[in-house]
Amino acid sequence: MSQDSYPTPTDRPDLDDVMNVTSAHSSNATAAAAREFRNPGVDKEPLSIAAFALCAVMLIIGGSVLGKTSGALFDYDASIKPNYVRGKAPGVVDDVVMPPKAILDVYVKKGQSLYSAKCNGCHGADGKGDGANYPSLVGSAWSTGHTDRFSQVILNGLQGPTSTGKVYGAGVMPAQGAGMSAQDLAFIMTFIRNSFGNSVGDVVTPEMAQAAIDIAAKRPNPAAPVTADELKGHEKDLPGDKMDPTTLVDPITFKPAAAK
Ligand code: HEC
Repeated sequence: MSQDSYPTPTDRPDLDDVMNVTSAHSSNATAAAAREFRNPGVDKEPLSIAAFALCAVMLIIGGSVLGKTSGALFDYDASIKPNYVRGKAPGVVDDVVMPPKAILDVYVKKGQSLYSAKCNGCHGADGKGDGANYPSLVGSAWSTGHTDRFSQVILNGLQGPTSTGKVYGAGVMPAQGAGMSAQDLAFIMTFIRNSFGNSVGDVVTPEMAQAAIDIAAKRPNPAAPVTADELKGHEKDLPGDKMDPTTLVDPITFKPAAAK
């Protein structure tokens, strides 16, 4: 081989040339290749979605075939007793879910919780007031007397003197009628007339209480509390049919229980 057959210096590899491997690998082409899925190996390939769909179709067809075969799996008629009727829960009487109770007892019980929420803070849990700022409702002539007069004190508040002629504390009871339904007023009045030792024995019906609300709305100055003078015009009972306090009612709906 002659000297001339050697490649020229420019054709020869430059042995001193240094290559940066990191930068070479970070070129776009190698990064894309790195993101390709690796071959998971034989028997480890993911299952094709077509295989899942095929299984689903087979299960649906298989299930319907099994379900249709009489006496076989999923047969509704074979697993449910014929003419099965669910029994009543204990204590359920026809359509009335709770045993009926005397209307007086039901109203007093409902009235008690309303009294606790609305009147308790001033007149006390025992209804006796405090003797200085709040009058007693026990034996109070206006609580146990005419229902019209009693209702107007509750709905409009009271500017003393009270039924005993005494003026209490700042001398004004704020009106309690705001947001009070006829039903609630009936509960509260019935409760006070038959609790703390008061025993009028009557029931103030929602019909009577509604009449009281209508009377209060017609006052010349509905914003002002009633006075002893104004109450003289209310010395009568509220209109409406009286109810026998022993009438049995559903304690949930307050409707008279159906006669047996
Ligand atoms: C913020 C306190 C307060 C609340 C709440 C209150 N009262 Fe009174 N009540 C008074 C005061 C005070 C008097 C006496 C007013 C006076 O002397 O001017 C009074 C008087 C009465 C009287 C007159 C008693 C009588 O024999 O003269 C009745 C009845 C009454 N209240 C019922 C009720 C009822 C029912 C409720 C709840 C729905 C109630 N009060 C809530 C403060 C209150």
